[in-house]
Amino acid sequence: MRLGGPLGVTVVGAGYVGLASALSLAHGGHRVAVLDRDATRLAALRRGEDPLGESGVAELISSTDIAYTTEPSEAFADVDVVIIAVGTPTTERGTADLSALRAAVQTVAERARPCTVLVRSTVPVGTSDELQSGPLHAFKVVANPEFLREGRALADAFTPDRIVAGGATDAADIVRSLYASITSQSWTAVAGLVPGDRPLLLWMDRRSAELAKYAANAYLVTRLSFVNEIANVAAAAGADVRAVLETLSKDPRIGTGYLQPGLGWGGSCFPKDARALLSFTTDLGYDFSLLRAVVDQNNAQLVRFFRLITESVPAGARLALLGLAFKSGTRDTRQSPAIALADLLVKRGHELRAYDPMVRGPIPGVPGLVGLPTLAEAVDGAHAVVIATEWPEFAALDLDELRRALSGGLVIDGRCILDGRRVAAAGLRYVGICPPPPGIID
Ligand code: UDX
Repeated sequence: MRLGGPLGVTVVGAGYVGLASALSLAHGGHRVAVLDRDATRLAALRRGEDPLGESGVAELISSTDIAYTTEPSEAFADVDVVIIAVGTPTTERGTADLSALRAAVQTVAERARPCTVLVRSTVPVGTSDELQSGPLHAFKVVANPEFLREGRALADAFTPDRIVAGGATDAADIVRSLYASITSQSWTAVAGLVPGDRPLLLWMDRRSAELAKYAANAYLVTRLSFVNEIANVAAAAGADVRAVLETLSKDPRIGTGYLQPGLGWGGSCFPKDARALLSFTTDLGYDFSLLRAVVDQNNAQLVRFFRLITESVPAGARLALLGLAFKSGTRDTRQSPAIALADLLVKRGHELRAYDPMVRGPIPGVPGLVGLPTLAEAVDGAHAVVIATEWPEFAALDLDELRRALSGGLVIDGRCILDGRRVAAAGLRYVGICPPPPGIID
């Protein structure tokens, strides 16, 4: 191994985080292997197919030379750095389920020569310290959380805002060397990605690095639940939530991101990480009451939107559900508020005709829920449309066509992507999280 030169990197886990890390590091010149138990997924990767539906992934798979394998002996043949990027889902109790992580650690401990191990999975504070003093005592363990967003996984891996790494000082050089092409932004443009601002590598201790990830997600969900509360207050008070939030966005201390109100936040990270942070702070004897209120607010926000619908449509009416993914830009439906809403609506006896640009076919968990191939099939003859995911094509709906297609002439906007005044001007009725203030004079 020569610091500054190419390193042998083995990524354990071929999900969003593992693949995006592997592709960015291979493109940066390292020799990369990806180890995963899922032979079907690896076979698809070897054929050059993108298993995630992320922009640029297919192109990068073909332009990089990564060994995709289920065999630890092959994966760890030439390794300087192991990156553990396996899932840490939520247990029934709300704690992080570390079984996949522990299995990966055991494989590394048994099969890899002593090297640097980066824990990229989101894990409770203290986990990396435990691994360092336990099964990975012969290795250098570094907590290296990622902040990647689905729908822009590669962009976030190639041009992150910051890289956070925590470990003993003697592990810092190899981590700097690993990420050199990212921190210097010296990689060549590829797959629609171009180098941008140089991110700082923030070096700290393992516990701080682990907590930094939870703190970032906890802050963002707190902000989103606050925004949703303000939207609810604005609607009750007859104020214009868009104007209120625009005012906040112009304050540089507040900034512009994560100010879009809706039916609640979801996805594979926010709900799980909020619950895990609550759970391990409780174990520490700390009452994180603010975060508990945030989680409660999010559950209530969905129910509130469901009630808005049930108060506006007759029982049993057929509804067009627009959106199934937990947000736009991804086909991921894990912890999707759209699907939680669908479940409530189906239980109330509504017939749902669903459409999502990236989600097709039967949706597990909600009987009869199917992603239809076209928007027209979902909308034709429905009493109302319910917008549950903020896809740009729903913001650009042809309202005249919609009026002709709907039997009940009603648009219910759970993502604040339509202007209620424009909807009303097209002869439709608007109900939503961001209603225009009554009696507004244009
Ligand atoms: C999130 C974090 O952003 C990322 O840093 C972390 O690594 C993983 O979790 P992701 O789950 O991909 O990423 O989704 P994100 O784009 O952050 O959105 C999460 C949820 O918040 C979605 O349900 C989204 O619809 C909602 N959201 C987001 C809003 O309701 N309003 C907004 O303004 C932004």
